Amino acid sequence: MQIVHSIAELRHTLRHADRAVFVPTMGNLHAGHLSLLAKGKPLGDALVASIFVNRLQFLPHEDFDQYPRTFEADCAALKQAGCDVLFAPREADLYPEPQTFKLTPDPALAGLLEGQFRPGFFTGVCTVVMKLFMAVFAGKTRGVAVFGKKDYQQLMVVRSMTRQFALLIDIVAGEIARADDGLALSSRNRYLSEAERVEALQLSLALRALARDALAAAHVLPERLPALEAAAQSQLAARGWQPDYLSVRRRTDLLPPQAGDGAGNLVALGAARLGSTRLIDNLEI
Ligand code: PAF
Repeated sequence: MQIVHSIAELRHTLRHADRAVFVPTMGNLHAGHLSLLAKGKPLGDALVASIFVNRLQFLPHEDFDQYPRTFEADCAALKQAGCDVLFAPREADLYPEPQTFKLTPDPALAGLLEGQFRPGFFTGVCTVVMKLFMAVFAGKTRGVAVFGKKDYQQLMVVRSMTRQFALLIDIVAGEIARADDGLALSSRNRYLSEAERVEALQLSLALRALARDALAAAHVLPERLPALEAAAQSQLAARGWQPDYLSVRRRTDLLPPQAGDGAGNLVALGAARLGSTRLIDNLEI
């Protein structure tokens, strides 16, 4: 595996690749990231991962400084996963000057859910993802990028950005990897105390219960959803969580379901803080 830090080195290294497959990450790799690499490996002739903790997508009070950085262990895991090239830019490689041009996604999608509670987050994500795409895929006729469904809304925002800018990049979705008890794997799980780690599972259980209640009739009854969502949030709050949202949305646009929407085109999404750790999860239904 070749490790490169600058965009020029990356482009030089990939000059002969016909179809690069790219898995962007912020490092601290776990089985979820590795499943994205495994999914991407057969889809092209050069498997590229990036590790970059992107300051632009963190709000001032969030965990940018605290975000786990485990570069040596990540390199070992990437080698094991068959990664050909690791792009690990320093901040000055990706942001050599203040990033005054930014990519602002459509608020109709990016202003919902995560966007409502983390304003600016998707602008930070889109700006860095576009820069990473330009670095990896410049001069290539076609490429593939793999994003996990764990960040469901991020996947949708990146898909719509790729479509609207007519990028020749196929966006492939990877399933959520879960621990044995069902907790969605996340780098932020390592912030949890032992007791919180046990409690953390309740978020996915709450989404499961919400999904079940929402589908109790063959089709969702949209007028009943707000009460079900509020009840799911109250139940988590009663256990000591601070929920941001638990909501059932349409998979196509993340808007509330309409009459007739039902199983097969919905997703239950949730974000809630347990102690000082903010967890997200979702379940396609
Ligand atoms: O999902 C992530 O880890 C990040 O948002 C990404 C896509 C690497 C951009 O910084």
